[in-house]
Amino acid sequence: MGASAPIFFIKMLTDIISFDQLDTKTLSLIFKTADGIKKSFKNKKTLEILKGKVITLLFFEPSSRTFSSFASAAKRLGAQTIEYQNPMQTSSAVKGETLEDTIKVFSAYSDLIIIRHPEIGAASRAANVTDIPVINAGDGAGEHPSQALLDLYTIREQFGRLDRLKGLIAGDFLYGRAVRSLLKALCLYKNNSIYLLSPKELSLSKKDVYLYKSRGLKIFEIDSEKNIPRDCDFWYWTRVQKERFKNKTASNKIKAPYLSTALLKAKGNNKMIVMHVLPRIDEVDREVDNDLRCIFLTKQIKNGMYVRMALLKLILK
Ligand code: CP
Repeated sequence: MGASAPIFFIKMLTDIISFDQLDTKTLSLIFKTADGIKKSFKNKKTLEILKGKVITLLFFEPSSRTFSSFASAAKRLGAQTIEYQNPMQTSSAVKGETLEDTIKVFSAYSDLIIIRHPEIGAASRAANVTDIPVINAGDGAGEHPSQALLDLYTIREQFGRLDRLKGLIAGDFLYGRAVRSLLKALCLYKNNSIYLLSPKELSLSKKDVYLYKSRGLKIFEIDSEKNIPRDCDFWYWTRVQKERFKNKTASNKIKAPYLSTALLKAKGNNKMIVMHVLPRIDEVDREVDNDLRCIFLTKQIKNGMYVRMALLKLILK
């Protein structure tokens, strides 16, 4: 890679809407930047490289992690934030202002917009009407690219590689946007095998299975915990996104895969890690928290902030 190559990749990093935009060289740059930030952070070095920048967070759907880790990332880098949680009640969207107009307005006040919205494609619509960068923080059942970035970073940190991995992903693939981005991410690296465990009602569409297989990912759909291979490198658990079901009674009847100490004993191994997109509801036995392989409330969420700091740095610096 020539001396000018990183500048090229940094210029490529503007809007982050879908994992379809990202390649392995860009991902390496993001992860190396996150490594540097994490190191500086541990050495208590000030990282106020975005002083004078203003970042808008527009979250039309609830969020704990994505909202707060992006807000924290911006502030730790010295940027200021305009923060809207629930703009449908607190911004002029309540009066009927369109998403496009809202984006144009906040583009005048800030240098970057981070948007979460219930509609698939909303982040892309936002990016189409502004010249400032837009980051998709989750668009309905579409994608959640910054979540997949932190998931990938966590796997890379554990195993030192992102190829030749065997993983189990469990839960909701019908509405799980983080899973969609993660599967696209895993397609970028060679010889990855993924076991998908879900009830039939929440399985991945045939179209998506075909898409990921055509990109080189080996996919095995399983419908029972009994079929989990013992030698997985990682398990990735997700909740059933009941809020997206039209029929709430039907969603309550779905029997989601359950993560328990018994399952870890029966199907786990000593080298694996267990991640969860979070929030977790009733698909995880709290007893697994004592198991050091379960890193979803420790390493995984902390990495979210470092990776999001890296993204903001690369896009805005
Ligand atoms: N993982 C995730 O997106 O969490 P939040 O919905 O709390 O942001």
